[in-house]
Amino acid sequence: MNPFSIVHYQETTSTNDVAARMAEHGAVEGTVVTADAQSAGRGRLGRTWVSPPGAGIYASIVLRPPVVVAPLLTLAVGVALVEGILAATGLSPALKWPNDLYVGPRKLGGILAEGAAGAGAIQHVIVGFGINVLPAAFPAEVAARATSLEGELGRAIDRDAVLSSCLARVAARYDDLREGRAPMVLAQWRTHAATMFGRPVEWESGGTVCRGTTEDIDDGGALLVRTGTGVTRVVAGEMKWL
Ligand code: BTN
Repeated sequence: MNPFSIVHYQETTSTNDVAARMAEHGAVEGTVVTADAQSAGRGRLGRTWVSPPGAGIYASIVLRPPVVVAPLLTLAVGVALVEGILAATGLSPALKWPNDLYVGPRKLGGILAEGAAGAGAIQHVIVGFGINVLPAAFPAEVAARATSLEGELGRAIDRDAVLSSCLARVAARYDDLREGRAPMVLAQWRTHAATMFGRPVEWESGGTVCRGTTEDIDDGGALLVRTGTGVTRVVAGEMKWL
């Protein structure tokens, strides 16, 4: 991937939306949009991503991946963020399928990949990520389930250093996917998500509530869950960790 060029906003709606507009107007792969604050930050499944000024890292990258690479992007970026945060701060978050970064029971960050296809090919995928930096800046209902880099480390961090470290790792993991090293990336994902396997989960499928125990991920990035009747492949949707 080309070196990143970063477009920074003091405040915007959602960096994913800005990056998507730029991609539609021809922005090259590797273009990054960041903001100090988002007025309409969002997460998976239509949730709000609370984005107060300076409280987090909010970033979105324009990618133009081959079709085979696209389903693994969220997992690869998860690995990259763990590596980037570890290198820049010494903190080693855990990954939770499909898109979360955790420290213990609290969420540190998340990834939102959104794609546009056309003419039989992927036009672009915007991979956005949010990492909480400050402990006190979130509303009470978020703060109870969330953690932050400075809250965990008990000291100030250099957010530009964390961002650069994460972007460098994203470039490396993306190249791994494009150059046939997906098995290695998936192995790294499993290592960082080790504490999430063997856990009871609940999800909905076709109007039925299903329960099982997380077992592994497969080569396509789906979560494998053991149920009373065998192993089920879960590809999307909400997973409730019990
Ligand atoms: C999730 O955990 O559900 C994903 C959260 C993704 C949040 C980031 S912040 C930067 C980018 N812009 C958005 O509106 N969302 C992503």
